[in-house]
Amino acid sequence: MKTSRREEASSARSDTSYEEPDLYESLGKYYDIWYEDITEDLDFYRQIAENVGGPILECMCGTGRTLIPLAEDGYEVWGFDRSHSMLDRLTAKLEHLDESAQGRVMVYHADMRTFQCPRRYRMVLVPFNSFLHLLEREGQESALHNVAEHLEDDGRFIMSVFNPRLDRPEELVRHRGTKTSVNGEIISKFEAQTFDQPRHRSTVHYFIDISRQDRQLRRVTVCFTLRYLSYQEAVDLMESCGLEVVETFGDWHFNPFTRNSDIMVFVAKRSS
Ligand SMILES: C[S@@+](CC[C@H](N)C(=O)[O-])C[C@H]1O[C@@H](n2cnc3c(N)ncnc32)[C@H](O)[C@@H]1O
Repeated sequence: MKTSRREEASSARSDTSYEEPDLYESLGKYYDIWYEDITEDLDFYRQIAENVGGPILECMCGTGRTLIPLAEDGYEVWGFDRSHSMLDRLTAKLEHLDESAQGRVMVYHADMRTFQCPRRYRMVLVPFNSFLHLLEREGQESALHNVAEHLEDDGRFIMSVFNPRLDRPEELVRHRGTKTSVNGEIISKFEAQTFDQPRHRSTVHYFIDISRQDRQLRRVTVCFTLRYLSYQEAVDLMESCGLEVVETFGDWHFNPFTRNSDIMVFVAKRSS
């Protein structure tokens, strides 16, 4: 019997007051092509899960890049996301899992700022810069209060974000690689970034060019604004929302965070 489910948040709530465009609507189709072979973070989450155990909640779970392997490992994993496009891809992939793994997955459509799930978790994850999509302090705080409420007393919250490098050249289009999809499409990704330092925002433009030898080139353009966080700002934010940072790593090999690290991986618990 298949018990994994995708719900429009009966027990997990999605709040229609956030009528914002789905930034991943057009990117969803190309997301896995670009990111499915990133597994370094997954190995890190697996090692923490070995100590902490499940159930696991992945907030902003997207296409299930990390959620699905964790379910295959045997953990009960819940996930939610506000993008139908990303969730459609996740649920399509669930069909290919064996029944027991499907039965360990619960997927919801919900917003990070308002989600409510009917239980608490041993591990709550917000991987891969997802938190930076929350642009306003109010939304960041609601999200983290929510996380704290959903975390078991001795559970762990893990959030990974990039360590802002403001010395990067702005408005320079960088070619981030070219891949070929299973149906023979040649997909090239280009990226340009600008910074709004007073507001701690970075806007990233993605230009995704899709071509096949015998067809005209198509371009999909996506633009994201992210609210980047400094180390201290992230620690203070979590602490003001009932989460105590117990460790911060600067890579996926458990090395401590330094100011030159590329990423910040925060491991937090509920404040006592
Ligand atoms: C960078 S992707 C990460 C997806 C997945 N966690 C992974 O690691 O591959 C960011 C995800 O956050 C979701 N997202 C953005 N804002 C959100 C919000 N306010 N509430 C819930 N999900 C959100 C997007 O739809 C997208 O799927």
